[in-house]
Amino acid sequence: MNEYDSELVKSLLIDNRHQLTKEIGEADVILLNTCAVRENAYNKIYSRVGDLKYYRESRKTRVGILGCMAQNVQDNLLKNRNIDFAVGPDSYRKLPGLIGDALEGGEDETITVLSKEETYSDVQPQREDGVNAWIAIMRGCDNFCSFCVVPYTRGRERSRTIDSVVEEANKAVAQGKKQITLLGQNVNSYRSGDDRFADLMEAVAQVPGLERVRFTSPHPMDFPDDLLKVIARHDNLCKQIHLPLQAGNDEVLKRMNRGYTQAIFLEAATRIRSILPSAHISTDIIVGFPGEDPEQFEDTKKVMEAVRFDSAFIFKYSPREGTLAKRRFPDDVEAAEKTRRIVELNELQKIHTLESLEKHLGQTKKVLIEKERTPLSEEQCQGRIDQGVTVVLPQDGSISSGDEVIVKINGKTSHVLLAELT
Ligand code: 5AD
Ligand code: SF4
Repeated sequence: MNEYDSELVKSLLIDNRHQLTKEIGEADVILLNTCAVRENAYNKIYSRVGDLKYYRESRKTRVGILGCMAQNVQDNLLKNRNIDFAVGPDSYRKLPGLIGDALEGGEDETITVLSKEETYSDVQPQREDGVNAWIAIMRGCDNFCSFCVVPYTRGRERSRTIDSVVEEANKAVAQGKKQITLLGQNVNSYRSGDDRFADLMEAVAQVPGLERVRFTSPHPMDFPDDLLKVIARHDNLCKQIHLPLQAGNDEVLKRMNRGYTQAIFLEAATRIRSILPSAHISTDIIVGFPGEDPEQFEDTKKVMEAVRFDSAFIFKYSPREGTLAKRRFPDDVEAAEKTRRIVELNELQKIHTLESLEKHLGQTKKVLIEKERTPLSEEQCQGRIDQGVTVVLPQDGSISSGDEVIVKINGKTSHVLLAELT
């Protein structure tokens, strides 16, 4: 979402006659778009702000903080004296004015009013190169999972109309994009009048020239059968479902305010596998949520064993400012124990990921090429299959980004499939 928001910000700035530069030494203003979801993200920004001190002091470059961290720790940030202004995710239209003030030597400022309506529907993002276009279809979240800062930093849920999303998808195709990724903090709770996420997916599937549609990030409770059936019916709706588990134990899930039990989650996973048998299911897991004892942790492993996720992102719990969990529950699982649990789950997931990759061996697949060279070799290119797995294949000099090629999968590494053209 931040990548997309940065594209919106670039567009708003260009419309106000600013110019973008990739040369940091040329910049009058440096903007950092930030994330507040976990402690790690915070630490990265504090250290980046420290790195920028040199430019601020020696060249009078102005430094602004955008995004969730601006919203969440506004006062602390400005006290940090190395920042000139901070702007929350609903206030980007105010940026040109703020930049003007900062350049004229005005006082430090923060604008962090959250809006019930702002969707930036009318702003045409300044897209990056590549085959994918991000399209935000909704913003904010009303779920209030107790560990999560997002409802506080991004505010209430609000959705764009189907027409405006379809129009943006058409424009993306006209710009040469082959894939769109629909974005939202809680994407499948999309609601515009009587329209639901299934209706939106049905509409974007019809966009001529759109080869692939992905979406992130959904909530496990918003996967009705009609949505899964729409995905099953259309080849260009990717068979890739993110199903964030967070924890496997019912008491922990209750304290997390996730709105489901282990049994309900397992039922959702089974339903997805039966309606979309080829789908890859990925997940997010938090270890060491307050009060999670070793026995409750075992339940998370149990669910992983039962679902056998194709991939997983596993995090250590970190208390976030303003959340219910931080206010109510002491962060009582020791750091070393969190580390032990994360290592254990990563080991288990490694086995499941390998199993998942092995299923593709020997098969013929369609790959949408994303990079004409891989980071490791000039003689290889890479793309992804429908389910989202990266495939690396030899570059014979004729393969371009955006091509769809048919390959035979003939090998794997720990996360990637290897292939050759058929
Ligand atoms: N601590 C650790 N992980 C968190 N996440 C969200 N909030 C926290 C937190 N306080 C994880 C969840 C979510 C992902 C985006 O980040 O797993 O799905
Ligand atoms: Fe955070 Fe997702 Fe829960 Fe919303 S649904 S509060 S974004 S974890």
